[in-house]
Amino acid sequence: MRLNKFYNNIEDSYLFSTISKKISLYKSKNPSADLIKMGIGDVTRPLCSATIDAMDKAVHDMAEAETFHGYGPEQGYEFLREKICNYYGDLGVSVGIGEIFVSDGAKSDVGNILDLFARDNKVLIPDPVYPVYVDTNIMDGREIIYIDANEENGFLPMPNESQEADIIYICSPNNPTGAAYNKEQLKRWVDYAQSMNALIIYDAAYEAFVDDSGLARSIFQIDGARKCAVEICSLSKTAGFTGVRCGYTVISEDLEMDGMNINKMWIRRQSTKFNGVSYIVQRGAEAVFSPEGRAQIKTNINYYKENAKIICDLMRELKIWFTGGENSPYIWFKCPGNRSSWEYFDYLLENANVVGTPGSGFGKNGEGFFRLSAFGSRENTIKAVERIRKLNDFLVRDNKYGI
Ligand code: MLT
Repeated sequence: MRLNKFYNNIEDSYLFSTISKKISLYKSKNPSADLIKMGIGDVTRPLCSATIDAMDKAVHDMAEAETFHGYGPEQGYEFLREKICNYYGDLGVSVGIGEIFVSDGAKSDVGNILDLFARDNKVLIPDPVYPVYVDTNIMDGREIIYIDANEENGFLPMPNESQEADIIYICSPNNPTGAAYNKEQLKRWVDYAQSMNALIIYDAAYEAFVDDSGLARSIFQIDGARKCAVEICSLSKTAGFTGVRCGYTVISEDLEMDGMNINKMWIRRQSTKFNGVSYIVQRGAEAVFSPEGRAQIKTNINYYKENAKIICDLMRELKIWFTGGENSPYIWFKCPGNRSSWEYFDYLLENANVVGTPGSGFGKNGEGFFRLSAFGSRENTIKAVERIRKLNDFLVRDNKYGI
């Protein structure tokens, strides 16, 4: 037998696994350290009561023969898909029920959708980027070309018409940089994709953090996107489902490329390889889209956004260059003292007991940058900010770096 040798081309360990190992090692050497984790973007607010009540009821449904549910439809129950359609309707986007595919989260779909594409496609990925886009394509042996996101373009690169691509990844609001495209900028990406006959894989996992009406919440708010984009979304950050697992992918029924219909291919793929998300979870997800659910998740999102503001205020106070934090739960900043990303990771861990994510873990352009997540508790966010401020005071006093 032979193995997939392309696995030799990826890093030994996934970024967040490497960070967890570093934390465990530090903890074993410093058992009393009071670590504040602002690394992986994992939520801390409990599920909203509308979701809990719905899942509670669904558990009881499973206890009675009349309301018991076995295998569900692979594409997701209509009761949930209908609510998702209405949610899009509120964004001014018309999406049909046959265009929604319920999944166990964005990460799975981001990887799984590659089943539909030939290996010889050229993939365009911004750098820095969520590592899953890169790793899943490397695992398949696809050629990747990078587009630079950097301080000059505010980490929002625009298409270069002379660069050819077949598959394009866009995540907005962006993970890791927190930067978000406005509608005009996204229109240029859609036009570019159409001119290349390329497909955009649009990751909208953080759309619920957008308040600014000039920014897009969905690629389908842009004219022409139905003909060249699929959108992958998740309830992980929107409704605290990181441990519950539910997301959805939207593929227009008339998305045709290379003589094939992508919506039909995805139905075929999912019905062969996926048995759907559990009834209980889908009932919980349905409740997210109810009026009470939407009000409750908004409270949680605002809580995280307030955390983000506290971190942004610190960046302004210390005059540290940063992006994100406004329509995003991530704050992406330049490491003080010209440190490398991992140097700053160790420095912050050892001196402030604060864990963040080194920017270089997201690509070469992330070197020298650092990401903090606003998904912690208010108390920990305030504590972390105080510790970083204090650390900065020491640095300035000792003239370690000038700001
Ligand atoms: C992150 O911290 O980048 C995300 O939580 C990872 C993910 O959503 O898979």
